[in-house]
Amino acid sequence: MSVNMKSILKSIATGKEYPLDEIRFTSDNGELLDVIHDLEAIKKQFGISREYYFNKRGKINGQPSGGVWHFKELVMPSLAESEVVSKQEGNTRLYHSKKTSSWLGLNVERFFLKHEGENPTGSFKDRGMTVAISMAKHLKQKAVTCASTGNTSASLAAYASEAELTGLVLIPKGNVAVGKISQALAYGTKTLVVNGDFDDCMRLIREAQVKLSAYPLNSINPFRLEGQKTIIWEILQQLEWQVPDWIVFPGGNLGNTSAFGKALHEAHQLGLIDRMPRFAVIQAEGASPFYKAFKNNFAGLTPEKADTIATAIKIGDPVNYTKAVRSLKWTNGIVESVTDEEILEAKANVDAAGIGAEPASCATVAGVKKLIANREIKPTDRVVGILTGNILKDPQVIVDYHFNRKTSLANPPHDIDANINELKKFL
Ligand code: F0G
Repeated sequence: MSVNMKSILKSIATGKEYPLDEIRFTSDNGELLDVIHDLEAIKKQFGISREYYFNKRGKINGQPSGGVWHFKELVMPSLAESEVVSKQEGNTRLYHSKKTSSWLGLNVERFFLKHEGENPTGSFKDRGMTVAISMAKHLKQKAVTCASTGNTSASLAAYASEAELTGLVLIPKGNVAVGKISQALAYGTKTLVVNGDFDDCMRLIREAQVKLSAYPLNSINPFRLEGQKTIIWEILQQLEWQVPDWIVFPGGNLGNTSAFGKALHEAHQLGLIDRMPRFAVIQAEGASPFYKAFKNNFAGLTPEKADTIATAIKIGDPVNYTKAVRSLKWTNGIVESVTDEEILEAKANVDAAGIGAEPASCATVAGVKKLIANREIKPTDRVVGILTGNILKDPQVIVDYHFNRKTSLANPPHDIDANINELKKFL
């Protein structure tokens, strides 16, 4: 069922409005666009409340509408259900990890890890992709594109195949983890390896949108962010709408930072929550333009040449900067940076806890560790960390760590002869 309600596109800077079905990604002045829904009308029509979402048992394409589409009326109310291209994204677990919380020095009852690596293609990108690809189809687009550090390309490839659209992805040469590039190839999308970095790929995609009318599914596409909002609403629902003190997650192109702020702002407007949690956005030290801008009171963003082992967030010129600043203002948020060594140490701990996540995701946990040490996060605070991608996305980093490191968590394999006495030594 679609809802006859008017959502619009609106410039975040000037408030200039455009129709929802106009194919554009910025205002006439180049500012980012929000999707604005008529929250008052939606609240009234559906009786939106905590109880409403607790009791709701909808279906999309004949399957339970959990995850992203559980919140359909706040994600894309006017889209007909028959137009939704979904792989049942979301419904990811919120882990209590004794091992991780004790390594961090937090109370296990007050520390949660939301694992977005449990999505269909192994990252949070699927939450945005289901919405953006559904809209691409709705808007009669034939070809969809993205620049990617890997996960967006994997997600686009899978969804473009399902939606029967032509997919084309641009990835930076030598900087995409093997699990991700494998997915793009396997799902059958055209994969162009660009002699440049992610920011070069992103520039090309924006140019291709203007000059070649290729439809981008990066997070400059405001429909992507509508889907990613549901990470926050799902966390709140899993916590029975008890707002945590902190939500901590990695920042690269700053799509999540933007989407999460909008999700909380809307939840507050709808009366689903009565206060805002604080955001802590974590960047890798070698790719930290947002951190530097934060330290400079957001006087402006200085793009940089990015370098980090966490290739997913190896981004020096994030396209969602202005929306992300707004999110930090809404949530009294902070930005922290962590070294590659800190990311690898956190990853070894998250992995050894039996949870596992890719390096960029573990920046979250490294960030929590650092913020506790800085006394920004108190040991009594209720903290939700978001793991953005699956452990199997980047097996090379794991193999390099366990074969070559001499740390207490390094767990190299042992070669033995096919003989029971050899085996016995290890038991
Ligand atoms: N974590 C993972 C695993 C990612 O893949 C990304 C972004 C981020 C964090 C950062 O999120 O951009 O919303 O701040 N990956 C993009 C990609 C850029 O192409 O897959 P963000």
